[in-house]
Amino acid sequence: TTIQAFRQTLLAWYDREGRDLPWRQDQDPYHVWVSEVMLQQTQVNTVIPYYLNFMATFPTVNDLASADQETLLKAWQGLGYYSRARNLQRAAQQVVQDYHGKWPETAAGLADLTGIGPYTSCAIASIAFGEVVPAVDGNAFRVFSRLLMIEDDIAKPQTRKLFEQIIQPIVDPTRPGAFNQAIMDLGSSYMTSKNPDTVHSPVREFDASFKADRVREFPLKTKA
Ligand code: ADE
Repeated sequence: TTIQAFRQTLLAWYDREGRDLPWRQDQDPYHVWVSEVMLQQTQVNTVIPYYLNFMATFPTVNDLASADQETLLKAWQGLGYYSRARNLQRAAQQVVQDYHGKWPETAAGLADLTGIGPYTSCAIASIAFGEVVPAVDGNAFRVFSRLLMIEDDIAKPQTRKLFEQIIQPIVDPTRPGAFNQAIMDLGSSYMTSKNPDTVHSPVREFDASFKADRVREFPLKTKA
């Protein structure tokens, strides 16, 4: 089927050309979670050195839970949005104290932790625990709105649910974390917002907006 061919093409490209990022070395939920929170408002290239330093300073969720405020804020200095650091420590304490060090393994369970919203819970659940859920961030909005010519306004809060429903059956059931991260890599390479290079995209044969010569019209977003 088309969906199977799409998954196969996407994942083969990701295995060949996906980015080799420090938080992709393993599927440890602590590693995945810290990286996803850092990446919420900060670009990949900026996050890399912060992530490496953070893991050297707080190697485990226990270290983070018991860290003093000063050491924590120092490790976050320059990343901005300091509430993220405080929420990160609060969630670490929840995992250690309320969950006895055992992470919730589903998006629904992870969403109960401080600072973990709908995107982040799905990213962690798919990457660390293999739950078959789509991680819908700006990349996923852009990539799937173009591939499928979805004309719903991504500025509307209810559009996320729609995208989740559309993408859910497309996510590769055997490698959901790799699938979601492949979409992120596609969205930051061939399928960018400012300078798309769809002619060379590995999934151009599945790209309806490319075939219709309408790439630039997607995603549809009204101004606030
Ligand atoms: N942005 C958010 N999560 C990411 C990830 N796991 N890899 C690359 N970019 C991301």
